[in-house]
Order: sequence, then C-alpha cells, then structure tokens
Amino acid sequence: MCGIVGAIAQRNITPILLEGLRRLEYRGYDSAGVAVLASDGSIQRVRAVGKVIELEKALEAAPAGGHLGIAHTRWATHGKPAEHNAHPHLSQRLAIVHNGIIENHAPLRKRLIDLGYSFTSETDTEVVAHLLAHYYGEKKDLLEAFRATLGDIHGAYALAIIHQDQPETLYCARAGSPLVIGEGSDEHYLASDPLALLQVTDRFRYLEEGDYARITRTGCDIWSRDHQVAERPVKRYEHAAHSLEKGEYRHYMLKEIFEQPDAISDTLAGTLGDDHVLTAVLGPEAETRLGEIRNIHIVACGTSYHAGLVARYWIEEQAGIPCQVEVASEYRYRTVVVPDGTLLITISQSGETADTLAALRYAKDQGYLATLAICNVAGSSLVREADWRLLTHAGPEIGVASTKAFTTQLVALLWLTTALVQVRGGDAALVARNVAALRSLPGLVLQALGLEPQITALAERFANKHHALFLGRGPHYPIAMEGALKLKEISYIHAEAYAAGELKHGPLALVDEDMPVVSVAPSDSLLEKLKSNLEEVRARGGQLITFACETVEHHDDSNSVTYTLPWVEDCISPVLYTIPLQLLSYHVALVKGTDVDKPRNLAKSVTVE
Ligand code: AGP
Repeated sequence: MCGIVGAIAQRNITPILLEGLRRLEYRGYDSAGVAVLASDGSIQRVRAVGKVIELEKALEAAPAGGHLGIAHTRWATHGKPAEHNAHPHLSQRLAIVHNGIIENHAPLRKRLIDLGYSFTSETDTEVVAHLLAHYYGEKKDLLEAFRATLGDIHGAYALAIIHQDQPETLYCARAGSPLVIGEGSDEHYLASDPLALLQVTDRFRYLEEGDYARITRTGCDIWSRDHQVAERPVKRYEHAAHSLEKGEYRHYMLKEIFEQPDAISDTLAGTLGDDHVLTAVLGPEAETRLGEIRNIHIVACGTSYHAGLVARYWIEEQAGIPCQVEVASEYRYRTVVVPDGTLLITISQSGETADTLAALRYAKDQGYLATLAICNVAGSSLVREADWRLLTHAGPEIGVASTKAFTTQLVALLWLTTALVQVRGGDAALVARNVAALRSLPGLVLQALGLEPQITALAERFANKHHALFLGRGPHYPIAMEGALKLKEISYIHAEAYAAGELKHGPLALVDEDMPVVSVAPSDSLLEKLKSNLEEVRARGGQLITFACETVEHHDDSNSVTYTLPWVEDCISPVLYTIPLQLLSYHVALVKGTDVDKPRNLAKSVTVE
C-alpha cells in the first residue's frame, strides 16, 4: 500500500526521505517520488516507476536537495502505475502526497476543470492539489485553504503538503489512513508508519482520526476534526531498530518464522500466574467486566480472520460462550443482530486494515457491550479506537505473508479464552492446563522448527504443481485454511482448504495422482474421522502429505509421506501445526523463485478498501 514520508530540518532531508521510503518498501508499491523545496525557493520533484532504487537512480541524474520535503510510494488505485500518476502531485506552487482514496474525486475534478484547472494524471490525489491551490488563491492563507479543502473531500486519506510560500512548514492531515509526526532534535518528520523513521527518531505523536497539523523544525500545532487545538502526547516506539534487519536470514519471512518462540514468550510475558491467568493485563475496566460477556463476535481479515476461526472452537468448547466469526469486508456492510452482552473482538496485525477499522467503527453503534482489539501495533488506529486492547508482542512483521503475527494472535486468543473460563468460575483444572500448555509453547515451536531440513526436501515435489488441497478437522480446519493461504500468497500455487469431512461432497473429484493433499492430523478426538477421509484420497491415487503426532502409527508408501510433531495438549496444537505449513510455503516459494517477502499484487497493510 502507499507510504508517506516527510521531513523538515536544517540539513538536507533527501537522504531521510529515501531511507524512509526504503523502510516502507515491504508494504508493496509500484512507483515512488519525492518533492523537495530547493534553496532557490522552487519545488524540485523527481518520480520513477518501479522500486525505490529507480527513484534513487533518477535522483542521481537530477539531484534534489533541501531542508523541507515529502516523499511517497504509490500502490495504484486510480490510474495505472506510471510516472505521471506517481506522487507527489503539483499544483501551482505546492506539492502533495496522499494515501487512501478520495471518494468524491469525480465531481471535484469536474468542478476544478470548470474553474480552468487542467490535470496531468488520472489520480484522485491531483484533485486535492488543485482544490488546495484554488482555495489558497481565494483565501491567501494556507491553513484556512487547507481547512476548506478538508471540508470538501470525502473518503480515506493521509495527506502531506509543502508550499513554496511557506518554506519552513509542512502540513498534514489524516482521516482513515494512519499518520505519525516524529520528533527529532531541532527537526521534525512525518510518516504513514513509524517504521519509516526509526533511523532518525523513536519519539512519535500519533494523529487521531480527523486531525490535521502544521509542522515546523521546532514544533507542531495539531487540530482535531472540529478545529479545536489538540494535544497528542509524544510516545516512544517500543521495538528496537535492530529487529528490523534481516540478519543472517535470506528473507524476512524466514526470520519471522524462526522468531516465533521469542514472539510467543514476549506475548505471554506478564500474563500468566502459576496456574491461572493475570487478567489485569486487559486494563481495569475490561478485567471487571469480563464476567458480563454472554456472546462474542469476531471480525478480521485474511490470516487474522483464520486466527478468529480457531478461537471460535476454543471459546465455545472451553468457555461455553456462543461465538461467531466473520470477515470484516462483509460484516461492515450488513445488518448485524447483536444480542445483549456481546463483545466485539477485532483482530489485526497492523491495526490499520481499512475493512477491520471500518467494521470496528460500524460496530460502535450496534449496541455491543464493548469492543476489544487484538493487535500487534500498540499505537495503531484499531487499538486507539477500541474500548479494550490485548496486545501481541511479535515485533515488527515485515514479510507480507503473516507468520509470527498469526501464532501470537492464537496465543492471545487462547489466553483470552482461559481468562473467560477463569472469571466465570469455570474448571480450575482446565485453566491450569491451558496455562501450563501456553508456557510450554515456545519450546515446542522450537522443536517444530527442527522439521525444516525435511520440509526443504519436500518442497521440491511442488516444483511443477499448479494446485494443492489442504485438509483439517475441528480447529485444524482453519489451520489448513491458513496453510493454503500462505502457499497461494508466496508461491502462486492455487491452494484450497477443506474441512476433511467435506471432501466427499465435491472436492474429491479433483483428486488424482497430480494433486498434493496436505493434511493436519494431530492426535485428537477427530483423528479417526480424519484418517477415513485420508483413505478416500489414498484410494484415488492422491499424493498425501501428512503432519501428524509422533505417538500415532502411520504407514507411508510411494504416494504418502508423514512428518511428525511432538504430542501436545489439544488446546495448543493449532499453534504447533501452523509451523510446518509456514515452512512448506516458504520453501516451495524458494523452489518457484518468487519474491518471498513482497509477493506480486499484495501489500502488507491493506489501508484502502
Ligand atoms: C497474511 O499473510 C496476509 N498478507 C493478509 O491476509 C493479512 O492477514 C490481512 O490483510 C489482515 O491484515 P491485518 O492482520 O494487518 O489486519
């Protein structure tokens, strides 16, 4: 998705802007650009299609330097990826970059054309540039012109603006798309993601919905949507900069897979007593009101949605609370029935996913008991807007394919289930068992990572495959869904997941000697049922790849191979069986030679609808 960086300093800020863009590359984009106020007072703009390296080459040919500037990586929404559509866009004496979508761009474009403005791009952003220039011409005051512009545009945006007439000032606004102001020593920065600025600061002000700001080298003024002066406190970013490096690993995804034992330990830190969970981590209000919950709705997207699907099995079986799970893009547009005492849980790695955020905002008027965000980014919009929060501590996840964020979400959800059992006076032995199982997870995940050499060899078998099926039962059905999503995302092999019992109702027709069928077969109450389903595959010559518990007997032949994992308590096996599926998709992608960390067409954080 698009990324914004801005800076104002006494030194040349172009290197800060470029480094910021490089740090945003993982989010996915198709073109990049910078606009800098040069010492002669003009705005120098350089743009390039493709990676940031192309922009750097363009800057070598036409150097642009100055003490005030903005930069952008674009992910096309309106108009194809092309230099003329890349940001920054110019109008008269100003330059602008924009993340998000201006929904009423068409009528505004018509109005501006009628006023005599001509357009050089197909973007919705250029409309904002001309509108601001138009109001500035009328009002002769940039702040007033900016306010008028914000009043006219509808949709989702983060905006950053520089103007030749104000060489000491950077303007910005956010509505539906994140933006932070970074504070340095006698310099200030701006970015759509704090990661972009960690090379220069770890101190940030997080703009809230509807905020707009005027930033100088020495300070900033922030106003809320209703034009009141707003105080947004400076917060320290909690992750160390070194955790953003790939280190010895070939890809971020592999590094993040191997970080899971630590990510799980960090997520559990301070949440477990000897044989009970420490509910204070939820905050005083949530802690006292947990007992009032009669129903749960979970809303999320992609991998985070899969975490919610697993949690439904836990919440209904262990806590006895009815639970439904839905993708945010559907939930946000339908009429929902919310029984009394329902908790809404949103799950998101980034906390900025547009559909999930919109779902949370929609839920606010639906009569929920409360809203809870499970999220990996403490300062994200989702966390700030939810009533309660439960943070995962996976550290920054750079690879587009979510790995450690998923397993830490599962850990947080199992912890929450345990908390619900505990506050409702449920089975103390079950609570103690869950706590012990959660404690054992980092070590077990480490053991599961030991399967890598075998999985590396297995991946070769997928070299010529175009399709794959994933099977699971009970809470391992969503794990199969997650395995299929991972394979699709990074190896571009078409993969589908089925609840194994559904096979004979249709998908069995796809099975032949060319179809790999990956199954998740822990030693649980559904194992015998699953085995019968796998026999249906074996009988049709399908290639069976099974991840099973080491305590269960298995018979491999030329068409089937089994990889074993240690025995674990049922409640944590979904976490454990995720690991080999992540390794499988990673190594298949290596065999296929795809761009593992930045798969085609995908963005890390989907901040537009
Ligand atoms: C996972 O591998 C994905 N890239 C994607 O499905 C992701 O989980 C989804 O877009 C939701 O993101 P979030 O967790 O940041 O809200």
